[in-house]
Amino acid sequence: MRRSTQALIGQKVWLVGGSEGIGFELVKKLLDSGAQLVVSARAAEQNTALLALRSANLENLYLLNCDVTQKHDLPTVIDQAWSILDGLDTWIYNAGSYQPMRLDEWSIDSFEQMNSVNYLGAVYLMNGLLPYFRKTNPSTDQLSPLWLWNISLASDFGLPYGGGYSAPKAALQNLAESIQPELAEAGIDLKVVNHGFVQTRLTAKNNFPMLGLMAPDMAAKKVFTALLSHKFEHRFPFSLGLVLGTLKRLPKSWALFLTQKMLNTSPPSEKNSSTDSNG
Ligand SMILES: NC(=O)c1ccc[n+]([C@@H]2O[C@H](COP(=O)([O-])OP(=O)(O)OC[C@H]3O[C@@H](n4cnc5c(N)ncnc54)[C@H](OP(=O)(O)O)[C@@H]3O)[C@@H](O)[C@H]2O)c1
Repeated sequence: MRRSTQALIGQKVWLVGGSEGIGFELVKKLLDSGAQLVVSARAAEQNTALLALRSANLENLYLLNCDVTQKHDLPTVIDQAWSILDGLDTWIYNAGSYQPMRLDEWSIDSFEQMNSVNYLGAVYLMNGLLPYFRKTNPSTDQLSPLWLWNISLASDFGLPYGGGYSAPKAALQNLAESIQPELAEAGIDLKVVNHGFVQTRLTAKNNFPMLGLMAPDMAAKKVFTALLSHKFEHRFPFSLGLVLGTLKRLPKSWALFLTQKMLNTSPPSEKNSSTDSNG
């Protein structure tokens, strides 16, 4: 069943990765729709932009620090996220980390960071949250609990220099497909969003033309629409989705012939040579 915007009024949402970019824009949209939010990022409680939003939404916005790479801290954080609003209806996983790397400059530290944020963090939270969501028993006039994972169209096909980012994203997509049937049986609605390039600190690291580049508020609007829809997967924009979806379906030798043409001699990240893989 399609949810209406009104259905979000009073819904209790935990958004992980809401301090920047798409997530921050999504926080504003959810507040406008009347949802109650717990917003997390590594330093959400100290984030100036979130604190300003918080002061204007004291009843509906709570900030909770959460570093998804800190596996042993997460049970406590999950318990806090659950308790702040006395339960949750929706969990959104939007945390992401990106560092393009050539093979000859491959950094294991950067890869581990991307693997932890883009994949394992979601798995830790899923595992910790499941018992809490299983305990909830929505009455027939309530919406079923909802999980939404923001993955990426990059999960379709491994592109040159981007594998450290896209391999964990592809793993998360595969995991989502694997667990969706069991979650549906448990009454939990899992959705994935796979979108293309959005103008944030992550894509500021790219030095190539980005097909279909979107503003963060436009991307957040579409993620918001995904929350209200009955579909499992949301892909946008159409142009990049078509290109990557075609690459995924082509015979591999053809697809790899094409991606070899994307190799260039300049470093993938001329604009950002820092080792911080988060932005
Ligand atoms: N931008 C794109 O073109 C694009 C394309 C496809 C998919 N995506 C996906 O969309 C999502 C949002 O990306 P964005 O472009 O808006 O990036 P962003 O502006 O860098 O925002 C990423 C969010 O993740 C949080 N985060 C990073 N590491 C974290 C950690 N260890 N623990 C908790 N939170 C962490 C960040 O918070 P702090 O740094 O404050 O902790 C921030 O709130 C990501 O999953 C990304 O992979 C982006």
